[in-house]
Amino acid sequence: MKRTRNITAALLAGGLTLALAACGGSSAPGASGGSDSKNLEVFSWWTSGSESAALKAMFDGYSKANPGINVVNGAVAGGGGSNAQAVLQTRLQGGNPPDIWQTHPGAAIKQYIDAGLVGDTSSVYIDEVKAAIPKDLVDAISADGKQYGVSAGAHRGNVLWFNKQLLQKAGVAVPGPSGYSTETFLADLAKLKSAGVVPLCLGGKDTFAIAELFENTLLGSLGADGWKQLTTGGGKWDSDKVKVAADNTAKMLQYADPDASALSWDQATKKLAAGSCAFESMGDWAYGELVKDGAKAGETFGYTNHPGTDGTFVAVVDTMVMAKNAKNPTQAEKFLEAVASKEVQLAFNKEKGSVPLRTDVDVSSLSAYQQQAAKSFASDAIVQSVVHGEAMNPQFGQALFDAVTQFTQSKDVNGFTQALANAAQS
Ligand code: GAL
Repeated sequence: MKRTRNITAALLAGGLTLALAACGGSSAPGASGGSDSKNLEVFSWWTSGSESAALKAMFDGYSKANPGINVVNGAVAGGGGSNAQAVLQTRLQGGNPPDIWQTHPGAAIKQYIDAGLVGDTSSVYIDEVKAAIPKDLVDAISADGKQYGVSAGAHRGNVLWFNKQLLQKAGVAVPGPSGYSTETFLADLAKLKSAGVVPLCLGGKDTFAIAELFENTLLGSLGADGWKQLTTGGGKWDSDKVKVAADNTAKMLQYADPDASALSWDQATKKLAAGSCAFESMGDWAYGELVKDGAKAGETFGYTNHPGTDGTFVAVVDTMVMAKNAKNPTQAEKFLEAVASKEVQLAFNKEKGSVPLRTDVDVSSLSAYQQQAAKSFASDAIVQSVVHGEAMNPQFGQALFDAVTQFTQSKDVNGFTQALANAAQS
């Protein structure tokens, strides 16, 4: 299914049905408007093993404090929301929003705020919560001094995972915690290939997985400052540095699993855990999945920063919003209160592989990987993800996905960067 990400344009094309419904003007069956006190629907794309477990932890935390309400799991499979985004848009257009849905801060949440689709969640931001969340991240879900979402945790997008045993078997030195370069990575991929190992795990069925390989490689080429410049309008998407990143991505893709196009990100991760492919560039939801697959950090698998991205943290921040006129507004708010609680932040992130957004959560019971990620989150340069809709608007996101799909076939660096430059200008 094509991922259509531009909610505002779709609403305009659809005659603003939802906006009317949100104002209480619709009586369509299933339309929003505070009429269901027994059920609470939570919509997401969390369906892999670790994602489902994390979602359940969120549900459990809510249900413990609010017994008697049936939580309806409206999850739609497809990594990075590849299918869920389109389904959500259709529902929003039809005036049938879920009570709660998953999104990200920055441009992703802004599209819903601007279209008047999400409710004001400022009441969740009591002093204790506000004080515990970094100001930039509160700002990233705010408009006109009001908060419109509650973030559950921060994933690091720029991680390179590897099957340690497979590297050792192929005579490839295991990367250290930092300093791994693009040149060494490309040389190691070649070595693995000659040793008869599938060098690069890739869940190419989820376009976001290939886009993420490019995003991470682009960050490695630009650095955090260059990234900020590029994504805040000052930089050029067809600059030499972007071309270098595209060229390196094309080189990496030559080493991808020949079965990639049939695999989702979590199936590719499962192959890494099983020793069927060696490296995977993927956000640390892969950590949750590797652990769920029974792989052991430090024994079966290891991790380092995606080449060239030491000291920078691509923050992919999972955030929940509630529909403006949710069917169950009271419970929607209670759900978001639960998401903001220290208990749920800990339980959710434990399964998910991310780190709590609240800095006052004791992370000592989380894995060594997550404790290290929590430290990086507090001290690294933080940048927003384009692939996960935070740093650039949804139209650009869609253009990036389309361009990546074409580029995967054509490997045409100039055509690819030109398409991105055009999209950034329109
Ligand atoms: C991201 C989301 C993560 C993870 C990933 C893969 O957009 O923030 O929580 O679910 O997609 O599906």
